[in-house]
This record gives sequence, structure tokens and C-alpha cells, in this order.
Amino acid sequence: MVDKRGSIVDALAGKRIFLTGVTGFLGQVILERILLDLPDTRVTVLVRGQQSSTAVDRVHYLTRKPAFDALRERLGGDDELLALLDEKVDVLEGDFSRAEPEIPAGMDVVIHSAAAVSFDPPIDEGFQTNLLGARNLYRAATAHNTPHLVHVSTAYVAGVQKGVIPEGPLDHKIDYDLEAEMALQARHDVETQSRKPEMLEHFMAKASKEHSRAGPSTVSIDAEERRKAWVDRRLIEYGRMRARTLGWPDVYTFTKALGERMVEDLAHERGLSLSIVRPSIIESALEHPSKGWIDGFKMADPIIRAYGMGQIPEFPGIPEGIVDLIPVDYVVNAILAVAATPPPAGEPAHYNVSSGDRNPLRFFELYEYVREYFEAHPLPERGRGEHKVPTWDFPGNLKVEKMLRRAEKLTDLAEQVVTHMPKSKTMRDAVTRVDRDRARVDFVERYSDLYGMYTETEVVYTDARVVSLWESLTPEDQERFPFDAGVLDWKYYLQDVHCPAVTVSLRELSRRDREKPSVRIRPRDDTVLAVFDMEGTIISSNVVESYVWTRFADLPLDDWPAEMVSVFGRIPGYLQIDRRDRGDFLRTFFRRYEGASVAGVDALIRNHVAEFMFQKASPAAIRRVREHRAAGHRTIMITAAASVFVQPMSPLFDVLIGAELEERDERYTGFMSQPPLVGEARSAWLKRYAADEGIDLRHCYAYADSYSDLPLLRAVGNPVAVSPDSALYRHAKRRRWPIETWEMSRSMPKVRFPKPAVR
Ligand SMILES: NC(=O)c1ccc[n+]([C@@H]2O[C@H](COP(=O)([O-])OP(=O)(O)OC[C@H]3O[C@@H](n4cnc5c(N)ncnc54)[C@H](OP(=O)(O)O)[C@@H]3O)[C@@H](O)[C@H]2O)c1
Repeated sequence: MVDKRGSIVDALAGKRIFLTGVTGFLGQVILERILLDLPDTRVTVLVRGQQSSTAVDRVHYLTRKPAFDALRERLGGDDELLALLDEKVDVLEGDFSRAEPEIPAGMDVVIHSAAAVSFDPPIDEGFQTNLLGARNLYRAATAHNTPHLVHVSTAYVAGVQKGVIPEGPLDHKIDYDLEAEMALQARHDVETQSRKPEMLEHFMAKASKEHSRAGPSTVSIDAEERRKAWVDRRLIEYGRMRARTLGWPDVYTFTKALGERMVEDLAHERGLSLSIVRPSIIESALEHPSKGWIDGFKMADPIIRAYGMGQIPEFPGIPEGIVDLIPVDYVVNAILAVAATPPPAGEPAHYNVSSGDRNPLRFFELYEYVREYFEAHPLPERGRGEHKVPTWDFPGNLKVEKMLRRAEKLTDLAEQVVTHMPKSKTMRDAVTRVDRDRARVDFVERYSDLYGMYTETEVVYTDARVVSLWESLTPEDQERFPFDAGVLDWKYYLQDVHCPAVTVSLRELSRRDREKPSVRIRPRDDTVLAVFDMEGTIISSNVVESYVWTRFADLPLDDWPAEMVSVFGRIPGYLQIDRRDRGDFLRTFFRRYEGASVAGVDALIRNHVAEFMFQKASPAAIRRVREHRAAGHRTIMITAAASVFVQPMSPLFDVLIGAELEERDERYTGFMSQPPLVGEARSAWLKRYAADEGIDLRHCYAYADSYSDLPLLRAVGNPVAVSPDSALYRHAKRRRWPIETWEMSRSMPKVRFPKPAVR
């Protein structure tokens, strides 16, 4: 039992707290609570600047967030809140992972909440922040001060142990300096390995397979991205394996555990008072700053949300295992009580801020409360009513593992099928289904791997010291700063507080999705461009058909069958070249115009092809072009076809860009006078055009159907995927680009050509 003593407010009055992590989930409520309830306590916060905002900007922005609503209201408005901030808070800019920040004298308490919190960062990043960075911070904070150090850790530093975990120092003899050195070395080694010729060849081959039709710079950008992603993956794997071999489930808990030992050593060396606060899984607020307040999604939330969307048919885990949750306001209150209660120097105090010992929430109870919640409040399913939630049988890990393997095989097979399906709504629906199934499998795999330890553990974090601290508080403080997890009502917390909070955005999203128009055409002036790809976007035909139309018309009727065979016989070959390189395809294909009369082709286009083109053009495309024109935009059509063939479209467009065929003696030579405008050549053309015309592409629109047009679509602020192929469909969905289906006639028009004498 701790003796009853004065209030938290009095204990911290006149003190200055040095606080890190205020832009994070926990830190912002610590700051808010100090401003709200500790009138005579001053704060210095350390925040890193970002590319476009300084640390001060970030803190000002922070105070506009919902966590500060209650305080803002109490003070009367934004101006009053900013005035309070200026009066009580000093902002220091700094990134402690990079260097020791300059921390002035006058700090009485250091609350170090900042950390790299993701479970599986690359190993060097975990060490850089949670061990080396934390050491930089404490060295700087204690250079001119002898503060009480309040180190925010996690209950899971205990690692993969089972049974009862007391509130005390961890039992290990790991050399944390050596581990940190090796982690940094790993980055160097993996980077070196990734640059070996055989690895680079591998990244290039993968990138070429996906992007060769878009062009070489798209390929090299993608190859470099693949290399970096590979490096990160390797370092994540390296970290996970190293953590597991030493008894921790992931790099996060491993580096946090070593971070604890580092600060214990430092406090010991410098004769400082040290408290280590170890919360379990922090979730939404029970009451403060408002019921259900949460910032982003925390540990259990992706699973709760995915379950509510019917996406997790089963999950591994021991049904009677304890899932140790704790509301964020309980953690903040406990931290403030700890800050007000420095232990004697040399006797570090450890606190498990957790619920599992006195008020355990079992995995199956969590599941049942959440299921009941979704049964009573199902999530809307886009355009299809409501999601049904599955019933879990907890069949054991092996069975779940088998289910996952089977589902994985099935999705691989389905993937093979969809990549060979032609462009159509059926294909897009199939892609959506395959992606959804794959996402489910990946989700369960990833989360069961990551969270296995948290949902399977037969471990109990005792919180006797927290209970003593709680009992030592005055009744007023107990009322004002509650953190007794023994009294939490889990059914109420999950069904009335937490689940509504973490699903609100899903409900809103689905409403907004229903309401959202696909593309918003904002009127402006002719400094906005609306760029349309032709083949597959405006007209279903491709250059093969263009050729066939004109070539047929150019021939005596008697020659048609033979010519048809000649062209169609070559089509598989053409298409193969097309798949490899669109430029090569066009070059090969245009060779077939050799000898055609310029005047004759011209007349044919004017007299006959124009009509077919309009028959074949998508009405939706024509309507969209007209909408852009009505909005004052400049319309541009880009095509791989010879520009002579697309002349009939010129009334619709301000600019028409197509392939230019070389002429000699009034006949086509079969060569192009410039390289074809395909893939990234289109975006290069557009960027140059925009620069010459003083146009800001962020306001412009582009419409295309093929993944090879990715560079063109990426170049503008408003890209639209029109009846996309499977790769572009996936990309557009990921980026939340509008996707539209423009119906068009696919059949060849039934027309009898006249027999012009053009040869
Ligand atoms: N969330 C949980 O469930 C949970 C459970 C147990 C324990 N904890 C512990 O609670 C603490 C806070 O967690 P959280 O959930 O609030 O994390 P969070 O939301 O990810 O916030 C992390 C904070 O740390 C800051 N930060 C990270 N690296 C920094 C650096 N090098 N220099 C300056 N600032 C840096 C971040 O700043 P930027 O905005 O600049 O990135 C951010 O403010 C951590 O120590 C964590 O281990 C969390």
C-alpha cells in the first residue's frame, strides 16, 4: 500500500514536463490533459518537422483535432486555445533518431512516449528509434537536468513467456549495443546484396514484364521501387527472426525491451528517478477526451473492421486466451499519476497498465461481444445491402492454416484466369472477386502471424503496483483521473464505445461512395486540358481495324478475301509484338501502308471512314468530350493510329495527336516520320505541351483504358480509367481513381465499300 498523499495537480504544479510523441495517439491526449487539468504545469514538447510544416505548425494543427474539442470548448474557441498553447507550451523541433536534440535546463519530468510502434519495421529502423533514438533523447534531456524519467514502454516487452508477468525489470542478459550495431550493419549488407547484378536483373525482368509497354523509364522507376521494397522485406524478415530467436515475437517488442534496459542503465549511471509504464493494447477512450475517441486504427481494430465486413471466416487463437485491452484515457491518467510519484533514484518502478489480471477479457468473449454488435448494427455493403458476419468455431491453428493454403491455391488459379480475360465488366467483377479473396487470405495470414502472440498468449500481466498507485490517490483524483481497470465493463466498452468508434468511417465511406459522382468536371478555362486516349477509350477499334477499313476500301472488291487472309493471318503475330512493345507493333504494322496513295486514303477517310468512326465511338465518350468543352476545357485526343485516319474526330477536339506516316511521291512509304506516341512518350508529350502553354497539369483530366497509359494518367490531377484492362483496373482501384464503363459498338459496321481507283 502506498500512503495517501496530495493530488496529482498539486504534485505537478510549478513543474515543467518534457514530453515526446505529442503528434501520436497517446501523446496528444497526455498534452491535452495537462493543458486541461494541470493549470500550473508547463510543458516542452519535442516534435520533428515535416517537409512542408515546422514543429510549431504541427502542434498548432494538432490542436484543431478532435482530441482538443473539449478543451477548445471550455476555453471558448481556437484563439483562446492557441493563446493557452503559447503561454504554457514550448515547442522544440527535433528528430531524436538522427541526433541528440538540444534540450535546455529546467525540466523536472521527462515523459518519453514517442516510439516506432509498428510491429514489423525493418530491423534498423526499430533500433534507430526505440533504442539508439531513446538513448539520444535521454542523454540530451539529462545533460542539464536531473528529471524524473517516465519511460512509456509496453506490457509485451515480456516476450513469448507464459504465465504471470510481474511488474519488474526483464530477465535477460542481451548486449543491446551489439544488437543495435548488427541491426545497422544488416541494412548495409542487404543494400549491398540488392545491388548485385543478378538481383538487379531480377528486378528489371519483373518491372519489364509489367511495364515494358509503357516505356523504359517507367520500367526503371519500377525496378528501383522493387529493389527498395525487397530491401525492406529482407530487413523486416531479418528483424522478426532475430527477435524470435531471442524470445520476442517482433522487432517492436524486442527493441522496446532493450530500450527499457538501456534507460535503466542510464538512470542508474546518472542517479535518476525512473518509472517505466507498460500499457497493454491501448484502445479507444472510455470517456476522455470523448467517449470512443481514437486516432487512427490500433491493434485490434483492423480485425474488428474486417470481421464486420465479413472478411474473416476463421481466425487462429486460443478462445480462452486473454486479450489485454486498456482504454487510452486510463493509460494517460496512469502516466500522470506516475509522473507525480517519482520513485527513489536507483529503484526503478515498473507499472503494467493492463486489465488481464483483475478483469480478464477472453478472446471468445471479445469475439462474442463484437459479433453481437455487428448483428445488431451491420455494416452497409456497397450497393448490396449489409455485410453478414461469419461464425467462428475456433477450430485450432492447424485447421486455419490448411484453410488458408487451400484458399491461396484457389486464388492463384483464379488469378491466371482473370489476367487472360478480355476487357469487360465480367472481367472487372472477376478481378474484384479475386482481389477480395486474396485480401482476405493475406489479411488473416498477416494478422494471425503478427497478432498470434497477442491472441494466443496464456499470459497475465499483474498490475499490483498500479493498484497501489490507484489506492494512494485522493478520492477527487480517483474521480478525475480514473485508471482502475478492475471496474471496466467489457460488454459496454466494446458494444457502446469501441465498435461504434472504429466503424464510423466505414459507414460514412459507404454513404459517400453511394453519393460520389464518378468524375467532377470543374468549369475553369482553356488552361485545363481534357486528354483522351482513342483506342479502347473512345473507339473500340485498334489500329488493326483502322488498317482493315481503309485497306479494304482501297482494293478492288475481288481482292478482299485474299487481303483479309493476309491481314488476319498476321494478327496473332501483330498482337504478340503489341504485347511486348507497342512501338514495335506500330512500326511493323504501318509497313503495310507502303505504296497506298495519299489522296486516295484521304478521300476514303473523308467520304466513308468518318461515318464508321462515329458509329463506333462510344456515346458516353462523346458526351464527356462535350461536357469538357462546355466547361471551357481544351480537349485533346491522343492516338497510336495514323493521324490521317482520325481526322473525322477533329470537330470534337482542339488538338489531335496521332502517328505521322511518311510520304513520297504522293504515296505512303510505310515508315513513320516520328517515333510513335505510346506509353510514356504520351506523358512526355503532354508535359512539354503543358509547359509550353503554361498549363498546370494538376487541374487537368486524362481518360484511358490500358495499363500502358499509366504514365499519361499519372501526369494529371484527375485521371480516369475507362473500361480498363485488368492491370489498370487494379491500379485505379488501389488509387481510388474514378473508373467508368463506356459502352461502344464492337462489331465491324456492315458497309459495302465503293471501289475507288486510288492506286
Ligand atoms: N498504441 C498502443 O496500443 C500501445 C500499447 C502499448 C504501448 N504503447 C507505447 O505508447 C507510446 C505511444 O504510442 P502511440 O500509439 O501513441 O504511437 P504513435 O501514434 O505511432 O505515435 C508515435 C509518436 O512518436 C513520434 N516519433 C517517432 N519517432 C520519432 C523521432 N525519431 N523523433 C521525434 N518523434 C518521433 C511520432 O512523431 P511523428 O508524428 O513525427 O511520426 C509520434 O508523435 C509508445 O512508446 C508505444 O510503444 C502503445
